[in-house]
Amino acid sequence: MNCDSIASSYRWIEYAVFGPYLERARFHWIDDLADAKNVLILGDGDGRFLARYAAANPGARIDSVDLSGRMLQLSERRLTKLGAGSRRGIRLIYADALSTDRLDGPYDLVIANFFLDCLDHAEHDRLIRNLAGEMALEARWLVTDFRIPAAPKRAWVFLMLTKIMYFFFHALTGLQNRELVDFSPNLIRAGFYRVRQRTWLFGYLFSDVWER
Ligand SMILES: C[S@@+](CC[C@H](N)C(=O)[O-])C[C@H]1O[C@@H](n2cnc3c(N)ncnc32)[C@H](O)[C@@H]1O
Repeated sequence: MNCDSIASSYRWIEYAVFGPYLERARFHWIDDLADAKNVLILGDGDGRFLARYAAANPGARIDSVDLSGRMLQLSERRLTKLGAGSRRGIRLIYADALSTDRLDGPYDLVIANFFLDCLDHAEHDRLIRNLAGEMALEARWLVTDFRIPAAPKRAWVFLMLTKIMYFFFHALTGLQNRELVDFSPNLIRAGFYRVRQRTWLFGYLFSDVWER
């Protein structure tokens, strides 16, 4: 997957399709998680979450890993606007999140906002297994993403929307995964349990905090 070509328009496409909802979802738990010390952000994209989180938790060490150079440039620009104080302790890492080579754990918080939907079953398995060894004993995951609601009357609308999104992401970025995969069994196997959940849009959007 290469998001370079959509990096500058990503935000505006998001607002056009979902209005403020994705932003509400990804920012929802920030204040509750602002006590973390060593944070890993996976596939943060244009850095909107990173900038908001860094402002809320200026003392944290934060590693933000992304596979798009253009997205990382946008993150860098946002951090520069925040000022030198907020930039301290933050590493922007151009790397595949499925590799642990550049990581510097143990992390007590891992964040995946609209990132796990890019991965298939095998990649979830690999990512969560790899990261288990990079996380502190008492660690948390924040996962914000899409899920097809259980109510059959609404499910088809969200199924269609999801198929369309995957079609466009595949065409524009080469994304290989084509469906939403439930990552929960992998987190449970790694010893985590869900402690908080908030949903929007009839359950299509969720933001969950997991702890171990
Ligand atoms: C759908 S965007 C989500 C961006 C952002 N987290 C948000 O809340 O909207 C997925 C992001 O993950 C990055 N990405 C995809 N696969 C990756 C991988 N294997 N390793 C690191 N980053 C990856 C993409 O470059 C992109 O910035």
